[in-house]
Amino acid sequence: MASRTQNCFVRAEEAENIGANASRNPTLGDIIAARWSRRDLMSGLLAVSATALAAPTAMFAANPTAEGDAGARAASIFGFPELAAGSDETHHVAEGYDAKVLIRWGDGVLSDAPAFDPLAQTAAAQAVQFGYNNDFVGYFPIDGRSDHGLLVVNHEYTNEELMFPGVGVQDGEANFSAMTPELVAVEMMAHGGSVIEIEKRDGGWTVVPGSKYARRITAETAMRISGPAACHERMRTTSDPLGAAVHGALNNCGGGVTPWGTWLTCEENTNYYFWNKAARDAHPDARSLRRYGIPGERYAWGKFHDRFDIAKEPNEPNRFGWVVEIDPFDPASTPVKRTAMGRFKHEGAGGVVNGDGRFVVYQGDDERFDYVYKFVTRDAVDLEVRARNKDILDHGALYVARFDPDGTGVWLPLVQGTGWLTPQNGFADQGDVVIDARLAADMLGATKMDRPEDIEVNPRTGKVYVLLTSNDKREETGSNGVNAANPRANNKYGHLIEITPERGDHAALTFKWDILVKCGDPSVAEVGATFNPSTSANGWFGMPDNCAIDALGRLWIATDGNSASATGRTDGVWAVETDGARRGTSKLFFRVPVGAELCGTCFTPDLKTLFVAVQHPVDGEDGKASTFDNPLTRWPDFNPGMPPRPAIVAITRKGGGTIGA
Ligand code: FEO
Ligand code: CA
Ligand code: CA
Ligand code: CA
Repeated sequence: MASRTQNCFVRAEEAENIGANASRNPTLGDIIAARWSRRDLMSGLLAVSATALAAPTAMFAANPTAEGDAGARAASIFGFPELAAGSDETHHVAEGYDAKVLIRWGDGVLSDAPAFDPLAQTAAAQAVQFGYNNDFVGYFPIDGRSDHGLLVVNHEYTNEELMFPGVGVQDGEANFSAMTPELVAVEMMAHGGSVIEIEKRDGGWTVVPGSKYARRITAETAMRISGPAACHERMRTTSDPLGAAVHGALNNCGGGVTPWGTWLTCEENTNYYFWNKAARDAHPDARSLRRYGIPGERYAWGKFHDRFDIAKEPNEPNRFGWVVEIDPFDPASTPVKRTAMGRFKHEGAGGVVNGDGRFVVYQGDDERFDYVYKFVTRDAVDLEVRARNKDILDHGALYVARFDPDGTGVWLPLVQGTGWLTPQNGFADQGDVVIDARLAADMLGATKMDRPEDIEVNPRTGKVYVLLTSNDKREETGSNGVNAANPRANNKYGHLIEITPERGDHAALTFKWDILVKCGDPSVAEVGATFNPSTSANGWFGMPDNCAIDALGRLWIATDGNSASATGRTDGVWAVETDGARRGTSKLFFRVPVGAELCGTCFTPDLKTLFVAVQHPVDGEDGKASTFDNPLTRWPDFNPGMPPRPAIVAITRKGGGTIGA
């Protein structure tokens, strides 16, 4: 019974727990058998590779004192005094810094927004107010300034039990009985994203009122579909017989910004919004629906809107699960779903301009046993004439990663007509390949990962960091067994992988990889964590989720899933060293209130401000019973009449200066 009363956060985690990837991609043993001939094994090649791979861990384990001394002797690249880990009702930042709330759920975005009234919220009000569960944050300078710009923010999902008085959790046994068309309409307006203009005045950030840029994106915003799936027969619906237009972007989790000044907002758990499990097996795309966990029935929307009922609109699910490009400088612009980049549970979009001028976007598919992808544009980015990049994301190649046990890897191209991606296997054209990117990747033998979340490129070194948040379904053996890149069974705490592109070329088809850190408490031997021993008892973390790599090449990790009961600490921002004797050392900089998740780490170009998104305060492992009427904390207002509110926090250094210097 307990599971029926769990909150949205836990429900979400369970949904990601469905293990929808039933493919039997090769295990470590299979790969070894296939990749190395008997002669290679005999000549000892494999043994050498395996030793090299295991070296960092082995070194720590065998001689922790020596390594710890070396790390301790070397100077930290992060100058702030470490924050103490813990869990309480509010947020905390390292001494010498300010962390101030910039905007909260319900605050006005458009100039006609009414004052927030949580006891009488309406869809019309929510449509012009800041949405719920802020996730990705991006900053676009105005006139090149670091004290005046546009902030774009994703609104990933809603928690009905925390948003609406007297409603409580609405799934499982309750079967959405308290969800009315009016409450669903509020939810739909609380999804999507916000564009706000912000300015630093007298050292503090403020939202510019009446900005000409201000915009809300919602579940009803008109969007265009472009790329190989546009106008595909599997994209056509009653309201859109062409298959080229759709309303809304859903579950916008992570994201990215492009060098031509657009916002990439990424649809993640879009299966939740679809309804009618009874209709799935008779659906013409039943295999695809199963692979994508559709319908998830986590929201009541399908009760009131035919398009979310898979029996009434069988193709509507195919129109969600994409990367959406938005021009934040033009509030009248139409957001575009860029289907060439593939359809899956996108976490973020970590982009880099490659040496040859092409734009490369690294992407994680956040589900247990799903994959790491990259997209490489066909054409070079034009950094002089912005308009020339308008549809650059419609043409290019999508790849999925195979991590081999010798510390190399291969990018496998998802191109219709090649290899297994044929009409006989369900891929009649490239539209089928991108709509069913997961199924295509299964056929190519991609490596099943431990929930790939953010992937970002270090602008200084070109190395790529992959955050694997956890996978408690990882087994010792079998098709879901451990592999070299996901080496821990029952991986509760996740790990960080560092990818080095071949010759520094992000378009290359091969790469090298290494595990930077296996996360969790290093003082508990059976956890198997591999933080550098210079890491303090406050400095380790579990469940890495989002990250930022700043202009100095420093890695900042945001987490999702730490709690007093799981790790003795709330989520937060940890600064992680990637080079030298202190490689793998982590240090706590900021932490969130109890039950919250930390998203959206984003620096201004001058590195004097770090914006973070505090998502679902009260709703984590420690806040399972939290509701609007009885929340675990009322952060950030601490007003008895106000529920907890997701909010953006701006972190600056007292007296100014570079964050973390
Ligand atoms: Fe929305 Fe993968 O977190
Ligand atoms: Ca999130
Ligand atoms: Ca996330
Ligand atoms: Ca997450």
